[in-house]
Amino acid sequence: MTTLRVLGLAGSLRTASLNRALLRAAQGLAPAGLVIEAFDLISVPLYNGDVEAAGDPAGVAALKGAIAAADGVLFVTPEYNHGVPAVMKNALDWASRPPRGAALDAKPVGIIGASPGQTGSARGQSQLRQAFEFTNSYAMPQPELLVFRAHEKFDAEGNLTDEATAKYLARYLEAFAAWIARFKAP
Ligand code: FNR
Repeated sequence: MTTLRVLGLAGSLRTASLNRALLRAAQGLAPAGLVIEAFDLISVPLYNGDVEAAGDPAGVAALKGAIAAADGVLFVTPEYNHGVPAVMKNALDWASRPPRGAALDAKPVGIIGASPGQTGSARGQSQLRQAFEFTNSYAMPQPELLVFRAHEKFDAEGNLTDEATAKYLARYLEAFAAWIARFKAP
């Protein structure tokens, strides 16, 4: 069986991030044949066309290379002010360049996220999905995974302790593996 390689991006930089914890949980719950490697967005500076014109900074080159090498990308996003946080959008903006032949072009992507609120990052996820129309990335439509009241679902060490969420996450990852496989040449 071919192993599918997924790059996982968490849109929060803080150590105790619920979304970083969710990404770690996804790594642990990935089904056989799917491997998730996390890329830390702390190394990606703010997008600047002048910097880009002079050549991608090391963190950006690493991000683009990791996306290009992956069979799919899993975006694990928080929600800030009813939208996608700058850290996540900034990474997407870099990875959407150059417009022709960008790392995200024709790439299968998944979107999940966590928030302490009742809507579980829904609006952050929606904005990301909208951006993938422009990047021509193949966003999996269903299932969705919205981890609401997320602070109650992880322990102090950031381990996922909620059984129902673990079940939904495992189911999501199985579906994502099947979604990616659709686009992979035999
Ligand atoms: C938030 N938070 C938040 N939550 C939410 O459900 N909807 C929202 O619109 C916002 N807005 C918002 C703005 C800003 C600037 C911050 C810092 C936070 C709360 C947010 O979901 C919470 O801090 C999460 O824990 C952030 O994700 P990480 O860092 O835990 O992954």
